[in-house]
Amino acid sequence: MKFTAEHLARMLLESGSRSGPLHRQLSEGIQELIELGELPPEALLPSERALADAMTVSRTTVVTAYRSLCSDGRLIRRQGSGTRVCPPHLRSGERETVSSPMLSGDHSGSAFLSPRLGTVDFSTAALPCLPLVSEVAAGLTRTDYLALGAEHHGYHPRGLPALRESVARWYARVGVPTTAEQILITSGAQQALELITHGCLAPGDGVVAEAPTYRGALEAFRLAHARIQTVPADDHGMVVERLEQLIAQRPPRLVYAQSTVQNPTGTVLADGRRHKLARLAERHPVIVVDDTALSGTLLEGSQPVPLAGLTDSERLLTIGSMSKLYWGGLRIGWIRGNAEVVGRLAQMKGITDLGTSLISQQIAVHLLERVEEAQAARRDQLRAGLDTLSALLGEFLPDWTWSLPRGGPSLWVRTPTSSITNLGHVALRYGVVIAPGTAFGYGGGIDDHTRLPYVLPAPVLRAGIQRLARAWESFTDGARVAPVPVASITT
Ligand SMILES: Cc1ncc(COP(=O)(O)O)c(C=O)c1O
Repeated sequence: MKFTAEHLARMLLESGSRSGPLHRQLSEGIQELIELGELPPEALLPSERALADAMTVSRTTVVTAYRSLCSDGRLIRRQGSGTRVCPPHLRSGERETVSSPMLSGDHSGSAFLSPRLGTVDFSTAALPCLPLVSEVAAGLTRTDYLALGAEHHGYHPRGLPALRESVARWYARVGVPTTAEQILITSGAQQALELITHGCLAPGDGVVAEAPTYRGALEAFRLAHARIQTVPADDHGMVVERLEQLIAQRPPRLVYAQSTVQNPTGTVLADGRRHKLARLAERHPVIVVDDTALSGTLLEGSQPVPLAGLTDSERLLTIGSMSKLYWGGLRIGWIRGNAEVVGRLAQMKGITDLGTSLISQQIAVHLLERVEEAQAARRDQLRAGLDTLSALLGEFLPDWTWSLPRGGPSLWVRTPTSSITNLGHVALRYGVVIAPGTAFGYGGGIDDHTRLPYVLPAPVLRAGIQRLARAWESFTDGARVAPVPVASITT
């Protein structure tokens, strides 16, 4: 299939406005058309000169955009046969992502799929299990199991009734009256995101997320062929005023927010913005998803009133999780929302897996009885990690800066380079894996940032930061420093 310059220019125009340098706007636009399937595999694109003329931009702009799409494995150029959309089986960039350790920095699950021995992996910020979890799990008695066995067949797509009650009570305690009918238990917050994505989005629907944001959410939206736009975030969370402007121009179908402890920045949405976001959910036909998976990891103070406490809009869906406060291995999360909407999502959950493990859910019931104890333990652990990492960065990478997070397991660090991606390749040679800022944003940008978790044991953190500092020296000085042996971590 061949696309003329005029045709492609028109498609790009219709795909909406973007910001940033022209070449990036162009490459993001083409990438979006490829992801939506509007530019199918093998499609022949116009020459650089023709597209430049049709779009009234310089030829260099098109050359740069095509080049970056080629290096991302989106386009392929062959002498004499022009520039084509890369067929999926040839996408070298993607294949590289699957086999290369750099993938650890590129997609959210890869650090778990292919952990690398001997490296310090800063690409995941997964938290260690709280000792409370094993204590509670070991304390499950015969009576607990008998009670579970009494649950007939054991299939509960909506979740164990006792857990739905506990979660509902927890919301009521933080000022959000909730019934068990409004709660759907999911296998982690990630499944909650998947269900909402598939239940609410059709290919081409608009989604607005913060930049940066949780990459697992971006991946879910991308897989659903959503049209993703971003609004900036600052130290007070999502810039809701910019979101309002976007909605006024062209309302998206879904807004993805993280009001209480944002991944990766650790911010909490300021009160004024919270109220504005709640009003948006009331005034506009937009689904607002408030992912509060990290809300149990505040470093100080108590939880602000959840967005769900500020509006009873049926278009607001709140996601929660036990992974960050207690342990990801439980695989327990939930969706809180309007009972009817939750009922429809429960049907999808039933189709997907017939329900989450009842044993995990029973442990979760007991864990929720000890929420304050868990929060105190997690807080102490996080504060100690934050102090250690801040001191290490001050000692070894003094030019790297960050804003103090309000919660969460990581620092969102600004570095004096505009290509953390390239630094990442060098860092691998020094035995450390980092996630470039681009992994947390959509379509490039923010490549001067990286997310550094502080939940690793102190000796591993020290080894990792020392290695990173040597990689940084090599990266900035032109590889004068010899790599350290990768097997020297002592925990
Ligand atoms: C913001 C956010 N949402 C969802 C998830 C997925 O969490 P879970 O382990 O509950 O699936 C994560 C995990 O990192 C996250 O940071």
